[in-house]
Order: sequence, then C-alpha cells, then structure tokens
Amino acid sequence: MLKELSIPRHVAIIMDGNGRWAKQKNLPRQAGHNAGAKAVERVINAAQKYGVEFLTFYAFSTENWSRPKEEIDGLMKLLEQTLDKYAKNAEKNNVRLLVSGRKEPLPPSILDKIARVTQATAQKTGLTVNLALNYGSRAELLDAFSKLISQGITHPTEADVQRCLYQPALPDPDLLIRTSGEERLSNFLLWQCAYTEFYFTPTLWPDFSEEDFKKALEDFSRRTRRFGSI
Ligand code: IPE
Ligand code: IPE
Ligand code: MG
Repeated sequence: MLKELSIPRHVAIIMDGNGRWAKQKNLPRQAGHNAGAKAVERVINAAQKYGVEFLTFYAFSTENWSRPKEEIDGLMKLLEQTLDKYAKNAEKNNVRLLVSGRKEPLPPSILDKIARVTQATAQKTGLTVNLALNYGSRAELLDAFSKLISQGITHPTEADVQRCLYQPALPDPDLLIRTSGEERLSNFLLWQCAYTEFYFTPTLWPDFSEEDFKKALEDFSRRTRRFGSI
C-alpha cells in the first residue's frame, strides 16, 4: 500500500505543543521538550523507512528568545546533547546533518557542536536532516538580500535569491507538517513554502508517532499539485 504512495522528497516540520503536552501531565515544560526530542528520533526513522530524502525540523525560532531564560537554557542543553549524539553516532548512521539559522547569539558550546556534527556527517549519502536552529525566515531573507547587495546584484532573479539562502541546495519542502492544532507558519520557510502542501494535526509533538507521520504521507499522496497550471 505504501509503495503506491507518492513520497514527498522534502518534509518540513513545525514541532509544536511540547509545553501543552507537559502541562496536561502536570510536568515542567522541559519534560515536554525532552519527550519532543524522542519524537524527532521516531520521525527520522520513519522518514528513512519511507524514502523521504530531506527532513527539516523547526527546533528554535528567532522569536523563541523571548521565552523565560530557564526554558531557553534547557532547550540549548537539549539541542547540544542531540547534536553530540549525532556526532558520536556518525559512523553507524548514514544521516547527513545540516543546521540552518543565524549563529548570533547562539552560545559557543552549541556552535562548536554544530561545526563538529556537520563536518562528521557531510559525506553521508542517506537522509538529510536539516535542523532550523535560531532560524527565522525574515532573518534568512534579510541575510540573503545583504549578500546580494554585497555582490553588487541590484536586480536579483529567483535563482540569485535561492543561491543566498541558508541551504541553497535543498529542494523546497513538498510537505509541511505542523502539530498541536496551530495553523500558521510562525516565520518558517516563507520563501521555500510558496507551493508546499500544508498538513495540520491536533496531535501534540511529543505524541507524534510513526503512524501519524504515515498518515501525513497518505494525505499528501491524495493532493493534486498544480503549481499554477491546470
Ligand atoms: C515547540 O513546543 C517547541 C519549541 C518552540 C521550542 P512549544 O514549547 O511551543 O509548546 P507549546 O506551543 O507551548 O505547547
Ligand atoms: C514555532 O513554534 C517555533 C518552533 C516550533 C521552533 P512557536 O510555539 O514558537 O510558535 P507560535 O509562537 O505559537 O507562533
Ligand atoms: Mg508553541
């Protein structure tokens, strides 16, 4: 049955609802983030199983700095541990890890881990996991415009802008999943989602299972993409 599905090459995910998941269980928000990290593992496994080539996770937005310091510190620690795990497991995994976002004001310890893990996995030929970390789409576009100006390009083409994005070689997402019932982009991949199919689910991110991922793929498979044509 799955063989008949048309599998999206690139799936982007807004992992939302960790805080609400924790609240429902009377747990601290960090417990929700920790459980969310496990959902990431499940989805990476499922994506490999179904033959998705690129998986982008929205892990921390440029607006998330407005959260309490305690929560930010906990998230940074968790991200650091996750990056570390991928660097350590690089030999047995065939996953290439990319990180997208502004470096400033990420702590040096994270920047160091990003450099290490991206280097260690650069030659991997399996699934590409792109972690959007301190990512904001408006920041990405502003950074692209600055690059274009510094290159003396005053009348850019779409290809010029694409070349200046954080991950110019990645195809646009075919499918965007957002959990937790919110139906908005929250400054995620505004340029890249011009023709992306959106899938919203009330499931909170820590509860998101392989079965939920499969449901999203099945839903995608039933869509007709026209790209402005008939
Ligand atoms: C998503 O879950 C994780 C991040 C944004 C880092 P939230 O922390 O936004 O959870 P809710 O939306 O408050 O439930
Ligand atoms: C979007 O979730 C950012 C990430 C998932 C990293 P938010 O929870 O920050 O988004 P809003 O504030 O509900 O729009
Ligand atoms: Mg949220």
